[in-house]
Amino acid sequence: MKVLAGTPELREIILAAKRGGLKVGLVPTMGALHEGHASLIRAAKINCDFLVVSIFVNPKQFGPAEDYNAYPRDLKKDLDLILPHGVDVVFTPEPAVMFPSGFSSNVEVDGGISEALCGKSRPGHFAGVATVVAKLFNLAQPDIAFFGAKDYQQQLIIKKMTVDLNFPVEIVTLPTIREQDGLAMSSRNAYLRPEERRAAGVIFKALQLAREEFKEKSPWEMKRRLKVFIENEPLAKIDYLELVDPETLTEATDGHKKVLVAAAVFVGKTRLIDNMVIEKK
Ligand code: PAJ
Repeated sequence: MKVLAGTPELREIILAAKRGGLKVGLVPTMGALHEGHASLIRAAKINCDFLVVSIFVNPKQFGPAEDYNAYPRDLKKDLDLILPHGVDVVFTPEPAVMFPSGFSSNVEVDGGISEALCGKSRPGHFAGVATVVAKLFNLAQPDIAFFGAKDYQQQLIIKKMTVDLNFPVEIVTLPTIREQDGLAMSSRNAYLRPEERRAAGVIFKALQLAREEFKEKSPWEMKRRLKVFIENEPLAKIDYLELVDPETLTEATDGHKKVLVAAAVFVGKTRLIDNMVIEKK
């Protein structure tokens, strides 16, 4: 396993892999790796011959009041987690390598899928994500790139970018990996104090409630019910909770048989997101 921080070294090794006819897989991450990331790496290993994992806390996707500086960084721990998986290259660039002074390009996917949900609460976030992912695609030249359904809106936007900009990359989305109480694994869970960690379980419970009760309720009633349910937890404060069309992310109507329930909830100061696609059977 090679750990590379520079783009010329990465390019060279990727070119050699491509010349050898190897199928390249990419798992982009911001580090603080957990089982959710590991599930992507495992799938990539099965489906590709040459595997690149990137670790880069991308400054462009954090707002000025967000946790860029506090975001957990522990390269040694991350490399320990990656090591058993047979990864070929771990790409760990410094911010100045990805965004040298004078960098002035921006990749933005316009329209509803970027403006809904997290797009409203985190202006500029998805442009930051799309820009860094576009760069990673150009650097690693993957045949397949792997993303998690935990960040549902993110993978939808990346799929659109990939089609719109003709990246020759297949985007694979894999299911959310959860803790025992259902809390979606996230690097940000490390911020939670013990009582907040317990309280955070309310998010998955709300999603389960949605799955159970959606068939009897309109999206509007369901949304009201879930908001009350979450707000019953004193440590939880809803940023948004929406039932939307899974493709367009527009508000779900009574006619929708299949919806995405998506939530962002502050537990203490920590903002957690989760989602579930549910269907009326
Ligand atoms: P990060 O939050 O580190 O997540 C990296 C990848 O792991 C994303 O595709 C995310 O959806 C996936 N992931 C995170 N938690 C997961 C879970 N519990 N189950 C399954 N998959 C999970 O998402 C980012 O980084 C960044 O925005 C990035 C795409 C790397 C661009 O900077």
